[in-house]
Amino acid sequence: MNITYFGHSCFGVEVNGKHLLFDPFISQNELAKSIDVNSVKADYILISHGHEDHILDAEKIAKRTGAQVICTFEIHSWLNNKGVENTHPMNIGGKWGFDFGFVKCVAASHSSSLPDGTYGGNPMGFIIESSKGNFYYAGDTALTYDMKLIGDYRSIDFAFLPIGDNFTMSADNAIIAAEFVKCNKIIGMHYDTFGYIKINKEEAIRKFENSGKELILFGIGETKSVEN
Ligand code: NI
Ligand code: MN
Repeated sequence: MNITYFGHSCFGVEVNGKHLLFDPFISQNELAKSIDVNSVKADYILISHGHEDHILDAEKIAKRTGAQVICTFEIHSWLNNKGVENTHPMNIGGKWGFDFGFVKCVAASHSSSLPDGTYGGNPMGFIIESSKGNFYYAGDTALTYDMKLIGDYRSIDFAFLPIGDNFTMSADNAIIAAEFVKCNKIIGMHYDTFGYIKINKEEAIRKFENSGKELILFGIGETKSVEN
């Protein structure tokens, strides 16, 4: 699958010809100045939780592209009130079939208020199941024992995990999470954007290597093909 990084936790993933965009936070990301938010493609926008560093550009991109936004019921209502009409509300445990494949919502241990203080529901992660492979996008979360359920549920080809520590799990905890979800190919996210989450990337990559796993880090704007 072709994956493009737009900075922080925002990735575009092409699945069966559809562009899935996760957690768009671009226009106020100092590190993502090279990205023109008006050029980002989306057929679907998946929002893990309501924090501004995950939802900031969702309204703008959804209105321009007409992409369907997949999110909690609370975020769906909030977006509807802003005039974003093409939304699909879900909640943890639920699964739904779309034209690219299935989305299953899983638990994330974090918080979720929207930028104006509105309650955003529970934070979520997503398992994407498709004829081209399966992957896990964790959103913002701590390491939790619940992640073992994901490894038992489906074979995961690659997983997006936060590695920045302070607000989420660290690289060390992401190695354990990778073991829980039974996946050796990890794409790191939620690091370096702000002072609290600046990390030593070389050290993180080395730690994964020493555990027999691969930590893939993207340059902002970079596209890579990640295979099963
Ligand atoms: Ni957050
Ligand atoms: Mn965040």
